[in-house]
Amino acid sequence: MIHYRSNAKRFVISILFLTVFCFGTNVWAQDGKALFQQNCASCHAVNKNLTGPALAGIEERVPDKKLLYAWIRNNQAVLQTGNKYFNDLYNQYNKAAMNLFPNLTDGEIAAIITYVNKAASEAAAPPKEEGGAKAEAQGSDNSLLYGILTLVLAVIVLILLQVNSNLKRLTDEKEGIPSYEPVPFWRNKAYIALFAVVLFIIGGYFTIQGAIGLGRSKDYQPEQPIYYSHKVHAGTNQINCLYCHGGAQEGKHANIPSLNTCMNCHMAINEYAGEKLYREDGTEVNGTEEIKKLYKYTGWDPQAKKYTGEAKPIEWVKIHNLPDHVYFNHAQHVKAGKVACQTCHGPIQEMGEVYQFSDLSMGWCVNCHRESKVQFTDNKFYSIYEKFHNDLKSGKMDSVTVEKIGGTECQKCHY
Ligand code: HEC
Ligand code: HEC
Ligand code: HEC
Ligand code: HEC
Ligand code: HEC
Ligand code: HEC
Repeated sequence: MIHYRSNAKRFVISILFLTVFCFGTNVWAQDGKALFQQNCASCHAVNKNLTGPALAGIEERVPDKKLLYAWIRNNQAVLQTGNKYFNDLYNQYNKAAMNLFPNLTDGEIAAIITYVNKAASEAAAPPKEEGGAKAEAQGSDNSLLYGILTLVLAVIVLILLQVNSNLKRLTDEKEGIPSYEPVPFWRNKAYIALFAVVLFIIGGYFTIQGAIGLGRSKDYQPEQPIYYSHKVHAGTNQINCLYCHGGAQEGKHANIPSLNTCMNCHMAINEYAGEKLYREDGTEVNGTEEIKKLYKYTGWDPQAKKYTGEAKPIEWVKIHNLPDHVYFNHAQHVKAGKVACQTCHGPIQEMGEVYQFSDLSMGWCVNCHRESKVQFTDNKFYSIYEKFHNDLKSGKMDSVTVEKIGGTECQKCHY
């Protein structure tokens, strides 16, 4: 029985090793993308200049790795050293300040840059098919492949173990040591038990992942009653977000504007003559027809130029929705925290129909609170934190994160 036990031990170790290897590498590969989306995507794209420059080819432009990492962590410090390249860039971008990321580790920065390089080379390759972004999202999820690989390797391990014990029996027989018929592994209780345990762990992992994700709806992009394009309004025509979502400045909710707000402009603008518009599925949108729908809802007669009184309410499909047990306040973030809409909602000004950009998970809130600096200057919310002010002034502290003012305490976000 002794060599069975040691075989079983080896088996457990190899399975554990394989599992760690599979999930480990998978997490690695995705990390860079997630970190980029979370920290950088509000200002940077890989191949397009947004608020900040396109990041493709960054290692060629800044070959000094130390300098590059220093910039990403604390660009203000690099600017102060008088570095010519970065000071020129800063002026070129109208002195737009990039955020500081003092908490990013070397490994995390390396993962972001690896992701940028990978995305840049994928975009440089000839386009594979329509809907590139979604295809890419699927392509990067290799867990199925790894799963199959694990299974195949596990079977090979089992077969080798069997061969090993057979050989041992043969040599034992040759040397005249009495031995017994080995039980094949599919009837060996130890193996069966192990197999059950491994299945249980893997099953449990996926069940828990699934349960945590319940009710989350990242990328949710419902079709709306009117094809209202944020790209046309907030992008091309530069209408300020607060013109329609003024609530975000004053209170908890950002609010969806009433159709009267739309009519401020659309009494006059009754046709669409801009760039062609397409839905996600590739069908073309007739902007003028969509404006006519707006007239139907508001009961506006564009010929007579008056309201007929036959208005009906519009039901926009709600996209972002936190569970009822969570308290989230827009003004706290937009007005006091000076967090840009795009940091949480993504590049809304480039979206046809809005989709949910962030997963709105608790981890998402808490991670940002760990990293974000509180803006103490002209922020009346925090006059009670005199001590922080003084520590900041005397240089004892160089910044105060949201966590330090209690932003990760349960009752701050939970009713
Ligand atoms: C608030 C907007 C903002 C965020 C967030 C941001 N950046 Fe920047 N970044 C900029 C701007 C603007 C510049 C151009 C220089 C300047 O004006 O400071 C820049 C420049 C850069 C450069 C130099 C580009 C070049 O062509 O040489 C790198 C590298 C960079 N950012 C990396 C990052 C990374 C990595 C992240 C995420 C961890 C990030 N940035 C997050 C705004 C941002
Ligand atoms: C001219 C008015 C207007 C402007 C300007 C505007 N929006 Fe909107 N927004 C709407 C309307 C109407 C909806 C509801 C329909 C929809 O979801 O597309 C909406 C929906 C949204 C949603 C999704 C709400 C939900 O259901 O969860 C977000 C987020 C959003 N807007 C953010 C922004 C940001 C950020 C800007 C500025 C870059 C902006 N909006 C500019 C009118 C506007
Ligand atoms: C500040 C002025 C302004 C406001 C407010 C405004 N729009 Fe527009 N809208 C425009 C302009 C400008 C265009 C583009 C016209 C063109 O390019 O020919 C446009 C185009 C459109 C179009 C056709 C393109 C598309 O997005 O499908 C629709 C539909 C539309 N608006 C609906 C709305 C709705 C619904 C609201 C209210 C939530 C609204 N607009 C509020 C100025 C406005
Ligand atoms: C710190 C992250 C964050 C920032 C910054 C932010 N939002 Fe939101 N926004 C959210 C969350 C979370 C929700 C979901 C709220 C809910 O379900 O109660 C939301 C919901 C919305 C909605 C849907 C209606 C509502 O209030 O529930 C609109 C519209 C919206 N945001 C617009 C904006 C605009 C415009 C800005 C910038 C002025 C902005 N948001 C800034 C996180 C943010
Ligand atoms: C992009 C970064 C970011 C994200 C994401 C974010 N927050 Fe915040 N949050 C901040 C900042 C910055 C402040 C500090 C604002 C200030 O200066 O008053 C803050 C403050 C708060 C406060 C007040 C804390 C205090 O001690 O007064 C609450 C409550 C809060 N956030 C809830 C949430 C919830 C709930 C979510 C997720 C749905 C969330 N936040 C997501 C950046 C973020
Ligand atoms: C910065 C804001 C924030 C803080 C602080 C916070 N939570 Fe949450 N919590 C959330 C959000 C947002 C959700 C909803 C996540 C979702 O829908 O997936 C949530 C969900 C939960 C859930 C439901 C399970 C789940 O993952 O969906 C539990 C339980 C929970 N929180 C407990 C806590 C406890 C305990 C603390 C204190 C240690 C805490 N929370 C602190 C924002 C916060």
